[in-house]
Amino acid sequence: MQTFDDITALQGILADWRREDSRIALVPTMGNLHEGHLGLVDAARQHAGRVVATIFVNPLQFGPDEDLDRYPRTLAEDQRLLAERGCDVLFAPSVETLYPQGQSALTRVSVPQVSQGLCGAHRPGHFDGVATVVSLLFNLIRPDVACFGEKDFQQLAVIRKLVRDQHMPIDIIGVPIVRGRDGLALSSRNRYLDDEARAQAGRLHQCLVESARRLEQSESHEQVLTQGMEQLKAAGFRPDYLCLCDATTLRPISTWQPGAVLLVAAWLGNTRLIDNLSFRS
Ligand code: PAF
Repeated sequence: MQTFDDITALQGILADWRREDSRIALVPTMGNLHEGHLGLVDAARQHAGRVVATIFVNPLQFGPDEDLDRYPRTLAEDQRLLAERGCDVLFAPSVETLYPQGQSALTRVSVPQVSQGLCGAHRPGHFDGVATVVSLLFNLIRPDVACFGEKDFQQLAVIRKLVRDQHMPIDIIGVPIVRGRDGLALSSRNRYLDDEARAQAGRLHQCLVESARRLEQSESHEQVLTQGMEQLKAAGFRPDYLCLCDATTLRPISTWQPGAVLLVAAWLGNTRLIDNLSFRS
């Protein structure tokens, strides 16, 4: 696997691949890779002959009080894992390379509606930061296909809308969540959990499973969601939200039906965890 931090060198190899008529898949990440990310690389390899992963801890998507400085950076280990998994190229640019005029002068991309509720309401500007860097990476790399994890369900909805609205010829593949044995969705932020918090964290997924089971039995969604929030609090979480939404628009809905998704975000100590469960018929 070759690693580039320079745009011109990256675009040289991309041009060679296009001359060979290779399909190119992109896996954008912020590094500190785990099995969830590596599953994205596996999916990418199924959809294209060449796979590019990116590692860029994007300052635009972190709020002023968020964990930009302490976000884990593990480039050497990430390179090893990507190479083992058959990634062809890693693009790991610096902030100066991607945003040479600085962040304040940068053209921003904002995706209305789907960005606004849920995490968007609790992390103002976050999805504008994501949409801006993802559209920049799409323009630089011009992939045929790009893979994103379903754990970041709202992010995936934002990117799908971005691509649709901008008529970008890119297939967006949502890759199922990879979970630990207790159901906790894998995330780079799980490493912030101490032993006690880690032992509790699986309760987040259990709350989704239990809420879905009750919705399936036609209990009122208001009651299920209110009691789910209470159960999370009793288990030591500080929930931001537990919502039942339409999976495409992310607007709240009231019935558990095809196209429905339950989404949750909750703090455990200083760590914010998110998870979701889609209706599967
Ligand atoms: O999901 C992530 O790791 C990031 O939000 C992404 C898509 C790489 C954009 O910075």
